[in-house]
Amino acid sequence: MIDMSDLFKEIEEYADENDIPIINKVSSQLLIETVKNKAPKSILEIGTAVGYSALLMASYMPIDGKIITIEQDANRIDTAYDFITRAGRIEQIQLLDGDASDILLQLEGTFDLVFIDAAKGQYLDYLQKIIDKLVVGAVIIADNVLFRGMVMSEEPPQKRYRTIVKRLREYLDFVSHDPRFSTTIHSEGDGVAISYYRGANK
Ligand SMILES: C[S@@+](CC[C@H](N)C(=O)[O-])C[C@H]1O[C@@H](n2cnc3c(N)ncnc32)[C@H](O)[C@@H]1O
Repeated sequence: MIDMSDLFKEIEEYADENDIPIINKVSSQLLIETVKNKAPKSILEIGTAVGYSALLMASYMPIDGKIITIEQDANRIDTAYDFITRAGRIEQIQLLDGDASDILLQLEGTFDLVFIDAAKGQYLDYLQKIIDKLVVGAVIIADNVLFRGMVMSEEPPQKRYRTIVKRLREYLDFVSHDPRFSTTIHSEGDGVAISYYRGANK
């Protein structure tokens, strides 16, 4: 039986050495708490990287729960497959290889929890593509929504981050004002938005 804390440490070191962005400590605590409270049976993750957050969620969700996770980088998905296999979770975590913007339109079934952690400029597009797959009460966790402090800053963002910042603001505006969602923005770390889906008729 593999020691998961050793494996998590190994993935953290691998990510650090290979410049692979994985969830930070603050966001992972929020993710773990939310997964424990919600006890989701079906999770969708957008942005696998090498499987760290997927394994984290798998460790705290019900044993018979399932995760679908999407990643477009072929090397990362291979590495994720290895780590997930070593963790003994390959039956529980399904890896989908490709651009989430396309794959989301082809998904079947419904989700109790969605973790959005891929292209920062696409969060609203991702959410809009899966709204009809959310169960009432589903939770959507979006990471890095304050993007290095730029999203809430009154200073204009550097030119190369302008679109990301604009689109993250649009995401936060949508989940904060659309009556179908109830959202809390956690400003710790790089910012995490946790939204509850109230249903289509709100
Ligand atoms: C921040 S990393 C994910 C980290 C991972 N959730 C974790 O904490 O272990 C974001 C990942 O999203 C992937 N990505 C970016 N845009 C994507 C897209 N359109 N479709 C699928 N994956 C995408 C990137 O290749 C990258 O590996």
